[in-house]
Amino acid sequence: ALITLRQLLDHAAEHGYGVPAFNINNMEQGLAIMQAAKATGSPVILQASRGARSYAGDIMLRHMVVALSEMYPDNHIVLHQDHGNNDATCLSAIRHGFTSVMMDGSLHEDMKTPADFDYNVEITARVTKAAHAVGASVEGELGVLGSLETGEAGEEDGSGAVGKLSHDQLLTDPDQAVEFVMATRCDALAIACGTSHGAYKFSRKPDGDILSMETIRRINEKLPNTHLVMHGSSSVPQALQDLINANGGEMPQTYGVPVEEIERGIKMGVRKVNIDTDCRMAMTGQFRKIATDKPAEFDPRKFLIPAMKELEDLCRDRFERFGTAGQA
Ligand code: G3H
Ligand code: 13P
Ligand code: NA
Ligand code: ZN
Repeated sequence: ALITLRQLLDHAAEHGYGVPAFNINNMEQGLAIMQAAKATGSPVILQASRGARSYAGDIMLRHMVVALSEMYPDNHIVLHQDHGNNDATCLSAIRHGFTSVMMDGSLHEDMKTPADFDYNVEITARVTKAAHAVGASVEGELGVLGSLETGEAGEEDGSGAVGKLSHDQLLTDPDQAVEFVMATRCDALAIACGTSHGAYKFSRKPDGDILSMETIRRINEKLPNTHLVMHGSSSVPQALQDLINANGGEMPQTYGVPVEEIERGIKMGVRKVNIDTDCRMAMTGQFRKIATDKPAEFDPRKFLIPAMKELEDLCRDRFERFGTAGQA
């Protein structure tokens, strides 16, 4: 059944687990993620970006997720808007059946210009009031996602700031976080701790200088009852980089967020873990492998079936390691 983010994360906090939020824009991703959720007995957050909504269409997305909830009646599902950029995006998502929205007021509507604290509080509080009036949940974000190594936001994926960012912007301030949650009444808070969107997060395996789990610890100390959200949480597994590159890909060597760091985060109040890049890489790795191994193949299903299997395996691993397994 579809439930709200608040319902799911309250349960996760009570039982001390984290929930992966996987991005979806098509049927095969939905089936693979839900197959993993069923196999492990996990609840799940399915999230759609603005780009995903325009790719699949709001009507298709809603019917798809309703269909998945009928096919997998034993798994609780949250349908969440990822990185809403203004009131209209968030409210139209709710009208289309989303049970939760992210109002990302850390950036202006263009999703490129960092916004100031007052703008962020005002728009997030307004969206939260409207969403709560109709029973939907809201995730806010304080801090700008970007690399502590380069000061850059990462991939241009519709949710990356432009220009050089300072450490002040790149690490959420714990006192401001308290003020933000009190003023907005949001249900979950996305924080910045050195992760960024896309595959190119770190030039080496991250340590505390470039991935600040300490920031999460400090925020959790001041906000023990707030559900924290980690964006940019793909691990960019070496095996998937190798699979892609062994089959004609040209991805430069890169490092993501180690799963053990996410496990540490979950112990410090992280409840929602956003993962898109790993899912993309899992499917693409198999597309490339089939194209290499069977150059005469032209039935899309022969590409999609192994791609779904690779994605399912990835999701199962995250459900197990985040403690989501068995909590459906
Ligand atoms: O936050 C970004 C997500 O990875 C979604 O990306 O806008 O390309 O769908 P997208
Ligand atoms: P990744 O690019 O690390 O998968 O992050 C996804 C994300 O934060 C979506 O909001
Ligand atoms: Na941000
Ligand atoms: Zn994000």
